[in-house]
Amino acid sequence: MPRISSSAPSLFLFLQCAVLWSASVNAQPDPQVQKDITAAIKAAQNSTGGHVDYTKFVNVYIGTDNFGDVCPGASVPFGMVKFSTDLTGYAPAGYVTDPTQKIRGLSPLHDSGTGSNLGTYGNFEIMPLMCPGGFNTCTTTLQTRERFRKNNTDVASPGYFAQTLDNDILMEATSTRRAGLERFTFPKGQKPYFVLDLSNDLPNSFAGGALDIDPVKGRITMGGQWGSSFGPGRFNYQAFACFDLLNGGKQKLDEYGIWSGNTNGLDAKGLHQTHINRTRSLIGDQYQFGALFSYVGSPRQITIRVGVSFVSEAQACANAESEVGGSSFAEIEAKSKLLWNEKLSKVEIDLKGTPENVTELIYSSLYRASLTPNNATGETQGLFAETTHPYFDSLYCSWDTYRTYYPLMALHSPVEFAQIVDTYIDGWRKNGWMPECRANNLPGSSGDNIVGHFAINYHNEAAALGIDLNELYSAMLADGDLKPPQWDVQGREVDAYTQYGYVPFSFLDVTGSGRQTREGSRTLEYAFEDFAIRQVALLLNKTDDIARYTNRSLFYRNVWDPSVKSDGFQGMLNFEIV
Ligand SMILES: *[C@@H]1O[C@H](CO)[C@@H](O)[C@H](O)[C@H]1NC(C)=O
Ligand SMILES: *[C@@H]1O[C@H](CO)[C@@H](O)[C@H](O)[C@H]1NC(C)=O
Ligand SMILES: *[C@@H]1O[C@H](CO)[C@@H](O)[C@H](O)[C@H]1NC(C)=O
Ligand SMILES: *[C@@H]1O[C@H](CO)[C@@H](O)[C@H](O)[C@H]1NC(C)=O
Ligand SMILES: *[C@@H]1O[C@H](CO)[C@@H](O)[C@H](O)[C@H]1NC(C)=O
Ligand SMILES: *[C@@H]1O[C@H](CO)[C@@H](O)[C@H](O)[C@H]1NC(C)=O
Ligand SMILES: *[C@@H]1O[C@H](CO)[C@@H](O)[C@H](O)[C@H]1NC(C)=O
Repeated sequence: MPRISSSAPSLFLFLQCAVLWSASVNAQPDPQVQKDITAAIKAAQNSTGGHVDYTKFVNVYIGTDNFGDVCPGASVPFGMVKFSTDLTGYAPAGYVTDPTQKIRGLSPLHDSGTGSNLGTYGNFEIMPLMCPGGFNTCTTTLQTRERFRKNNTDVASPGYFAQTLDNDILMEATSTRRAGLERFTFPKGQKPYFVLDLSNDLPNSFAGGALDIDPVKGRITMGGQWGSSFGPGRFNYQAFACFDLLNGGKQKLDEYGIWSGNTNGLDAKGLHQTHINRTRSLIGDQYQFGALFSYVGSPRQITIRVGVSFVSEAQACANAESEVGGSSFAEIEAKSKLLWNEKLSKVEIDLKGTPENVTELIYSSLYRASLTPNNATGETQGLFAETTHPYFDSLYCSWDTYRTYYPLMALHSPVEFAQIVDTYIDGWRKNGWMPECRANNLPGSSGDNIVGHFAINYHNEAAALGIDLNELYSAMLADGDLKPPQWDVQGREVDAYTQYGYVPFSFLDVTGSGRQTREGSRTLEYAFEDFAIRQVALLLNKTDDIARYTNRSLFYRNVWDPSVKSDGFQGMLNFEIV
């Protein structure tokens, strides 16, 4: 099913921006990043066997410019947390290389590689500040705290992210699945201040939330509701965070309080206030609020432990305790690199016989192929609360992944593939249809090709991998046979399609709704999904369905026009004829 995106830029605009952009932009990562990658590959080419650190071959900046929409943030494989800075302008994944954009803050939740213009997440931004005039003079709002980076000093690698502000404050992060550490290094002699922002996320979708400061424990807890990002619909999701400020007692909190501001000049601060709770603005105003705090003296370095959860504040704190505990930044980073090496070492190449830039591209791509979807198992809400099955969020749209990402995963990671297939089936168990493009708890449809691929590859191992093939097949049949009330968000426009043998334009539907769009593309997609159902029907000997789905899988012919010629080819899919 096509992604519903009313805000996609026109191709023309896209090309125009790309041209302007490439003319005006300097390379942003520290030039040393590329030098180190090339040197590591050269050294590995010379080495005579033994341990290879594949994380050194990965360039996490590939795709962070020219609308690549990927996140170079610190993450573990399939991590729910991806620490990155959030930048102004077009920055759907938080970070972009464009040096003319400013940094809003560092935050734990991001998506990588999604096609959403407005972006996703960016909740719980923290920004280190110097406030020479004291607490009441701190620049807390988004507009006043934004700063340029120190150009060409960005550094990131698997499990590590760092960026330096133009005032020389260094921000670093490393992560576990649902938690991590943020580390800030200040110029000498400065009192460290921090602003924490509860309401501003990247797409500006705040829908109510609350924050509490416990100055004795040195802990700030917060959470609320935000609007789901890519994909259709008006859905909210909940998210929570827990910030531990004292680094196991090594740091002393000084001032603390609440701030609130807006773009019309509100700039209020409440020293020693510890609680704030705001609803969504029903007249469309932009609320900005959060916490502001400082440390005793002028310590150069401050480390803050962060846990997140989609369940509760208590669970966000528990995640930080169980996943980070008292570990140091170096320990968490080393663990993350270990996890990445397990993934990356699944593909071994002839390093000596491969050009350095190809090695870099292979391992950088393999890195990206284990970054998303986000493993939110145990972090479920809404219909999926308390599910006993794995839960993955930020599922890429199926038409992007069924012949690329998942076939690759089928080759190198059947266990992980099975967990994701179980997530698709769980969508059917809880929602009635399998998900697609699911982000922030949205429903969806169209997982047939993906779960079908699994069934064909792994039917002998399915039970051992936790997949019941009959259940998988029932989920496919639901997509194929059951008409949903709204096929924009789940299922298919199935009755019109089976009645005509294609999806007609301008069809009077009195029992369901959905946007009248992309009828030709949907015909192809439905037919291909029907082919997947047919293959699994054959596999499982579902004799009643085999002929029916064989027939339906040939419906693509109904949009085939053998007379159309173009570019020396004859015979095209012609969506005009339907
Ligand atoms: C690799 O080996 C070659 C030949 O032995 C040598 O010239 C080169 O300096 C070595 N490079 C590295 C990065 O060790
Ligand atoms: C970084 O480079 C951009 C683009 O050239 C420029 O606008 C900005 O002022 C520079 N930032 C600093 C801190 O020099
Ligand atoms: C915030 O206030 C709302 C009512 O406006 C209430 O429903 C909610 O429970 C409060 N949340 C917290 C964490 O205090
Ligand atoms: C690698 O570099 C060579 C030489 O500059 C170039 O011809 C080739 O296209 C590059 N390959 C990739 C994958 O970038
Ligand atoms: C997802 O997280 C769960 C819970 O920690 C874990 O059991 C599972 O192996 C993880 N899966 C992947 C693919 O990371
Ligand atoms: C498939 O099912 C049919 C009846 O539905 C049965 O006659 C046939 O033996 C089955 N074939 C296999 C290979 O199990
Ligand atoms: C195939 O589908 C078409 C269109 O729905 C229908 O007219 C035809 O009877 C079907 N053929 C079989 C063998 O099911």
